Amino acid sequence: MTQMALEGVNLTRQFGGFYALRNVNISVPQGEIRGLIGPNGAGKSTLIDVLSGRASKWQGQVFVDGQDVGKCSPRERRNRGVARSFQRTSIFSSRTVRDQLELAAHWGDDANVDQVMEQLGLSSKQHQVASELGYGDQRLLDLALALIGKPRVLLLDEPAAGLTMEESLNLAHLLRDLVKRWGITVLLVEHDMDVVFSICDQITVLNLGEVLIDGTVAEVRASPLVVAAYLGRNVT
Ligand SMILES: Nc1ncnc2c1ncn2[C@@H]1O[C@H](COP(=O)(O)OP(=O)(O)O)[C@@H](O)[C@H]1O
Ligand SMILES: [Mg+2]
Repeated sequence: MTQMALEGVNLTRQFGGFYALRNVNISVPQGEIRGLIGPNGAGKSTLIDVLSGRASKWQGQVFVDGQDVGKCSPRERRNRGVARSFQRTSIFSSRTVRDQLELAAHWGDDANVDQVMEQLGLSSKQHQVASELGYGDQRLLDLALALIGKPRVLLLDEPAAGLTMEESLNLAHLLRDLVKRWGITVLLVEHDMDVVFSICDQITVLNLGEVLIDGTVAEVRASPLVVAAYLGRNVT
């Protein structure tokens, strides 16, 4: 049996009586880029929160490389190789790109800092103050921060939000290249279907807190259920 890098079993999260997630099962094999899509409010960010350890009240189980990490804090999960990106990680925006990455590395793994900057094309901007970067480079810095320490599993919640189409596709290709080189496993929430269809191996579609379908790009594109879920939300 293939070892799953990331596995969520019967994940449920409620807010009051409302199910943001209900018995969600997801298994991502090592080295795969899994797209996570679904209409607004489907539960995508909630699932990322549960998998990364940021959700407070939830039920189910989370495994990383077959190890139960359900009781682990975000920091402990990070130590086990699970990283996530945030939309606004640049808390120390008055610091340079390099400083921020070194801070994230905190034990001073310079080799990895240089490698990450090079991989994302940020080396030439390493001495620029983060707040003075263009928006596209700020998003790359957010991704770079998640990559410090070479995570085994990367959870990305809309890393291309606000980028132009060209920047989105650039980010998508950087990501795919990186996954191949480092053998990372990625769960990618992304609303830009061009990005999802161009880099994901497999796609999980959430709707109203439940998995609607798990399949290849072709299967998901052809699914009437997916079309109905998106159109249903658009007309309401
Ligand atoms: N902290 C919260 N309190 C109450 N409801 C929440 C909270 N976070 C998310 N929700 C609800 O849970 C559902 C799923 O949200 P979310 O996971 O953010 O969806 P998505 O990321 O797919 O757009 C939405 O209906 C949202 O309103
Ligand atoms: Mg979201």
